[in-house]
Amino acid sequence: MPYVSFLRYAALASHAYLPTYTTTDRGDPLTGLKILGTGSYVPENSVTNKMFECIVDTSDEWISSRTGIKARCISDGETDLFMARTAAESAIKCAKVKKSEIGVIICATITNEYITPSLSCLLQRDLALKEEALVFDINAACSGFVYALNLAYSLLRSSSGKYALIVGSEVLSKIVDFSDRDTCVLFGDGAGAVVVKLCRNAPFLFNAGAKGDDNLLYCPGIIRKKSPFSKTDHEQAPPFLHMDGSEVFRFAVDSIKKSVTAVLDKARLKPEDIDHFVLHQANARIINMAAKRLGAPPDKFFMNIYKRGNTSAASIPIALDELNKSGKLKKGEKIILAGFGAGLTYGAVYFSW
Ligand code: UT7
Repeated sequence: MPYVSFLRYAALASHAYLPTYTTTDRGDPLTGLKILGTGSYVPENSVTNKMFECIVDTSDEWISSRTGIKARCISDGETDLFMARTAAESAIKCAKVKKSEIGVIICATITNEYITPSLSCLLQRDLALKEEALVFDINAACSGFVYALNLAYSLLRSSSGKYALIVGSEVLSKIVDFSDRDTCVLFGDGAGAVVVKLCRNAPFLFNAGAKGDDNLLYCPGIIRKKSPFSKTDHEQAPPFLHMDGSEVFRFAVDSIKKSVTAVLDKARLKPEDIDHFVLHQANARIINMAAKRLGAPPDKFFMNIYKRGNTSAASIPIALDELNKSGKLKKGEKIILAGFGAGLTYGAVYFSW
């Protein structure tokens, strides 16, 4: 037996009591991840499609039929931090864990008030979470929450705490051009959070990727000021979201199919074995088309886009919290989450409730 294979065999034998479904691509037996609690917050200010008819050339009929959106919540002063804090407090309460045992805090956001400090650091301060923790934000746009789940899965192994707090929080209305009908009707604000821990009797499988692109979906960053040392003025577009909708639509359906199929294959499961699919809520037609391409029953795909719109990194944890609080999640049920968006990024995770 070659030396490497022998080592793997020894490792497998020593973990014989572990469930066989928690393996990485390398075949190492590993512990999975469990979601212990969920929380969310959306602004009270619900803006209907009809209200958009007064500001751009659009109609309730166009928005509903092309996207499934009827309304979205738009911040009336609520900040990313306020929403993140409210969602996180609710998730911690739901998880019934000690705040002092949270060792990883990750916020997925593209709309934090500050370039620095991170939203996660401000959350750590406001929630009085412990100092000895890994505390940082990630920018993977609408895939941010699934990317963050996988990061937490890796980081908890070396963390000083038992639990990770993962939040997606977005005030997209800050970066939406309300005179651009192509984008302004699509997005909403909100935050969702989960508390997770490593767990021996839980599966956790992940697939993700990126196709770097700044043409199809992007938002320019800080306006660059001319420095005292530069000779030329640099023109820069205002910080608004731009999207080539139909190209991103195609990317979305393809990437969901790719990443969900990859985690199903790793888990040796079929689409019909899954109890709930919670996809990024960007367009009801994307979700329906993905269900069709996967050959999975559409009624297993949770949807709240009709009242939330697209809340980017917040959309999956908000959806998960609403599904959880509706009482429809049963212990042991199999769940797949899948995100896709700017970057371009995509990713899916499989775990059990
Ligand atoms: O979260 C990140 C990932 N984002 C997504 O996954 C979004 C993916 N894309 C989409 O969801 C869809 O492409 C949209 C909802 C953005 C657009 O739907 P579509 O069926 O792809 O429409 P389209 O872009 O092909 O546009 C069709 C027409 C155009 O008019 P012409 O050129 O055919 O005359 C648009 O100007 O619809 C027009 N249009 C609108 N009309 C009324 C675009 N926005 C609007 C609007 N109201 N708000």
